[in-house]
Amino acid sequence: MIPFTVAEITAAVGGTLHAADGTVAAAVVDGPVEYDSRKVAPGGLFVAFAGAKVDAHEFAAKAVADGAVAVLGSRPVDGVPMIVVEDPRAALGLLARAVLERLDGLTVVAVTGSSGKTSTKDLIAALLRTTGPTVATTASENNELGTPYTVLKATAGTRYLVLEMGARGVGHLRYLCDIAPPDVSVVTNVGTSHIAEFGSLEGTTQAKGELVEALRPSGLAVLNADDPRVAGMAGRTAARVVLAGESGAAAVRATGVRDLGRGRFGFTLHVPGADPVEVRLDVAGRHQVGNALLAAAVASHAGVEPAAIAAGLGDLEGLSTRRMDVFDRADDVTVIDDSYNANPASMAAALRALVAVAGGRRMIAVLGYMAELGEYERTGHEEVGRLAAELGVDRLVAVGEQAAPILHGASVVASWGGDPVLVTDQEAAVALLRDELRPRDVVLVKGSRYRTWDIADALRAEAAAK
Ligand SMILES: Nc1ncnc2c1ncn2[C@@H]1O[C@H](COP(=O)(O)OP(=O)(O)OP(=O)(O)O)[C@@H](O)[C@H]1O
Ligand SMILES: [Mg+2]
Repeated sequence: MIPFTVAEITAAVGGTLHAADGTVAAAVVDGPVEYDSRKVAPGGLFVAFAGAKVDAHEFAAKAVADGAVAVLGSRPVDGVPMIVVEDPRAALGLLARAVLERLDGLTVVAVTGSSGKTSTKDLIAALLRTTGPTVATTASENNELGTPYTVLKATAGTRYLVLEMGARGVGHLRYLCDIAPPDVSVVTNVGTSHIAEFGSLEGTTQAKGELVEALRPSGLAVLNADDPRVAGMAGRTAARVVLAGESGAAAVRATGVRDLGRGRFGFTLHVPGADPVEVRLDVAGRHQVGNALLAAAVASHAGVEPAAIAAGLGDLEGLSTRRMDVFDRADDVTVIDDSYNANPASMAAALRALVAVAGGRRMIAVLGYMAELGEYERTGHEEVGRLAAELGVDRLVAVGEQAAPILHGASVVASWGGDPVLVTDQEAAVALLRDELRPRDVVLVKGSRYRTWDIADALRAEAAAK
């Protein structure tokens, strides 16, 4: 964190300093702000949450012994310099806000949407890194803890702060944007993820649009031109709007999208005022074209030339794991690990990617349960199964009883000649694959988080990558 004295932190969070030693107030915190006591480093600040299982105040003394200058928590701890507040979670946000207020010359880019936040955030960060020091959300730390945590990593030298922002309900994005008011707001799409909390797609649209409502008039909204619910958010901000997509209405646009093989796509990128350039995306999946266009719009706004955008998108590093991770095993089986999470839209994207990667090879889709669909649960799973059948998946493996409606959906497609099977759990899926996989097979592994990660990991471990 940029240097703040303990007294300044106390004031920023509206807390009370409890310290035996009067010199603590003037001590400077310039190390990391951590809420995992194992990560505490000299010069840092430890934030103690009193959780249901663990009360981190128990680690306060150890954090100080490990070098923390002070601890932010909800009650005093004997012998520890404590900044005491009612709600440490809110205090973390207030501190991040105070830090941002001291950093001029920093552009805050916020990314939300139902799917593709992390993918798009990664692409934006990769492109902005080519023009200036960039701090971005790690993996998917997109909530009321992850957002301030990421902000607090910014330093005086940081030019771009790229924040993934998630929302599970109305007001969530407003809260995150109060912590980190965006200069650029990017919305990927509106789909059925977390629909149980939002109630309806209209509810989701309303909530996601808070990201553009938070923009100042001098800001920029980068909206997916190909999703009418997102494009419609243009009316909810006084800021300038750039539409990105494949539709004719888009200012930043792709034409001539073509399959480059192995799930990769290329396209001609059009940016206003510049000659078109050819892009060969270094990530798999047709859906990445839209994500890349959003990233290109942000980068172009930041002054990155189209040629540099094309070069950046064609040579990507440091992407988050378990998203469209395509690898070949020594036994000539290709695996697509897209197991990070799943909802009907991302399942559809991944199934289409399976077709593109396979290019005629045998396709096996190992699909788990999609969480948090609420009343859409049954139809959501059935739709995915139907699409898998329509796309001609050869072997459709549903993992766990809750994923069974995927198979019902597939069975409705009369022309489908594929082979469905329901397995009880991850281990059963791994055993089945061990038996059945043959050279040249292409396997997609996808589901909601931890339920399917194990399958992808087993496939990776069982036949060492080439
Ligand atoms: N534009 C898109 N449209 C549909 N699916 C997408 C899109 N971009 C990525 N996906 C798919 O959605 C899944 C999740 O991608 P990603 O992690 O980028 O999304 P996210 O919005 O960050 O998800 P989470 O809410 O879990 O943080 C991946 O399986 C990915 O293949
Ligand atoms: Mg994410």
